[in-house]
Amino acid sequence: MTRIFSGLKPTGHLTLGNYLGALRQWADVDQHRADALFCVVDLHALTVEHDPARVRRLSRQAATLMLAAGLDPALCTVFVQSHVAEHTRLSYLLECVATDGELRRMIQYKEKSERARTTGQSIRFSLLSYPALMAADILAYAADEVPVGADQTQHVELTRDLAERFNQRYGPTFTVPRATPPAVAARVMDLQDPTSKMGKSHEATSGIVYLLDEADVVRKKIMRAVTDSGREVEYDREARPGPANLLEILAACEGRNPDELAGGYESYGALKKDTAEAVVELLRPLRERHAALAADPEYVDGVLREGAERARGMARPVVDAAYRAIGLLPAT
Ligand code: AMP
Ligand code: TRP
Repeated sequence: MTRIFSGLKPTGHLTLGNYLGALRQWADVDQHRADALFCVVDLHALTVEHDPARVRRLSRQAATLMLAAGLDPALCTVFVQSHVAEHTRLSYLLECVATDGELRRMIQYKEKSERARTTGQSIRFSLLSYPALMAADILAYAADEVPVGADQTQHVELTRDLAERFNQRYGPTFTVPRATPPAVAARVMDLQDPTSKMGKSHEATSGIVYLLDEADVVRKKIMRAVTDSGREVEYDREARPGPANLLEILAACEGRNPDELAGGYESYGALKKDTAEAVVELLRPLRERHAALAADPEYVDGVLREGAERARGMARPVVDAAYRAIGLLPAT
């Protein structure tokens, strides 16, 4: 059976981008067709400046939203990265396989370290080694597929390179995974700045739809989305990123094609209105289930405890094999 692994960082409240680019596919498709693991990758949240209480709160909220989105513990494994020590155990070995040059070439590292530099913040060493930990997340479970948004494909490519290099040097140990981005909405853009990704850790929040935003807030954000001075509604990502983003969001909500949708609109106003209503309806059941689950934290804790146990059982033999293969003396 195909093995799937994917994760979400608890660095901010989850956004519409997280849902359309990742979570929805995990719940509606992936968990039904494969042996799937979905992880709150909390260790990754420590690679940038963080507040301990906030990371703890966001980790619980992310897990609760994953369940609210429909991940079913009877079908898949839901857990928190730091509960399973195999991730960091394997990460070190992969740091010994990766090179400084390839880690520095990662776009996410370049962007985030540049941002830290311009705001006078220090750059944590873990921001550079981050892809080795991400590779460990994936390789420890012998995952075949990694469903992620387009922004993460470079990290999955690096994971493939590390797996192949390790296998070649030390003998066949890892399954070589591949990224499987969603067909539409692989990259939902910020409503106020449609040339940059809708990211949960951005400071300006007016262009970001959070999964737990009130319906009226969602409407307001979408109605105020930046478009352009064009008269006709056209789907052109390069030349007209604002309208294209709205068309993609609407298409993703309704399971339609953005190009086709464009033909049905005379004005941006009408497009915004329909998009706003579609998003409100998409998020309504999610918010309701989240409220019910948040009222029962013991249930959520139980799911995470069992998930971690199952995950540990899967990762342990793979990581043990990697330790032996690379030349470490087994503990007896
Ligand atoms: P992150 O928020 O960086 O932890 O991402 C969790 C998952 O959501 C990853 O698979 C990302 O690729 C995906 N994702 C995050 N933001 C977006 C976005 N704006 N559009 C599409 N997918 C996204
Ligand atoms: N780096 C991913 C992101 O920023 C999160 C992540 C960490 C991940 N480990 C992973 C995603 C393993 C998929 C598989 O979105």
